[in-house]
Amino acid sequence: MRYLLLSDIHSNLEALRAVMAHAARKRRDGVLFLGDAVGYGAAPNQVVERLRMMGNLVRSVRGNHDRVVLDPTQGAVFFNSHARRAAAWTAELLTGANHRWLDALTLGPRVIEEGLEICHGSPADEDEYLFTEPEAQMAFASTRASVVFFGHSHVPCMFELSEHGGRQSLVGVLLRGSRVVIDLDPSRRYLINPGSVGQPRDRDSRASYGLYDSEARRFTLYRVGYDVDAARRRILAAGLPSILGDRLLHGA
Ligand SMILES: [Fe+2]
Repeated sequence: MRYLLLSDIHSNLEALRAVMAHAARKRRDGVLFLGDAVGYGAAPNQVVERLRMMGNLVRSVRGNHDRVVLDPTQGAVFFNSHARRAAAWTAELLTGANHRWLDALTLGPRVIEEGLEICHGSPADEDEYLFTEPEAQMAFASTRASVVFFGHSHVPCMFELSEHGGRQSLVGVLLRGSRVVIDLDPSRRYLINPGSVGQPRDRDSRASYGLYDSEARRFTLYRVGYDVDAARRRILAAGLPSILGDRLLHGA
């Protein structure tokens, strides 16, 4: 099966449009969404409607922002003031149908096929960030899946776990570039973040997404330029904190 991997769209319609246009001619059987459809950006209804329109083609897990927008008592205390303000603004704006779609998102991890799972933060906890090898080590211990796709950190990266004679070795790498192709070793295990569609944080302002061919075990990461300033202007026009628009310019 071939999957389009989308994560952390964060109400950025301009970025989502660019990604879907870029991916339009790539053969795929389904879409895997790793959470955070909303929060930070200024087009929550348009983004959720595009995901809803994919119907059964998309399989999703909930992100922490999706959860907090529906109920601020479920973790808003961990948000900075800008994120809290965007979550409250989003909650007021969401249509009933879009609210229900977000409410129906399931808590990860979610099994997609034998050995393949998706989650938001880590397989153990949707709020946990995986930045370091020790953090990834704990995450590998919490799942038996061979390949796990995760989001939440907004940084495209890969952790690879191999075993030789009972000894484990774990390597983490950042994934940089316009197109990165990785053939996964069937004898090793992987945690892979396809990056954020709508709010990249690796100093590359381009939208990030992935494709995964589970038969060939080939993962490809793509970066796509989009109209960042239009997304920024939309945030300013909505009266949201300007830093939420400005950070898009720098991918930070
Ligand atoms: Fe996020």
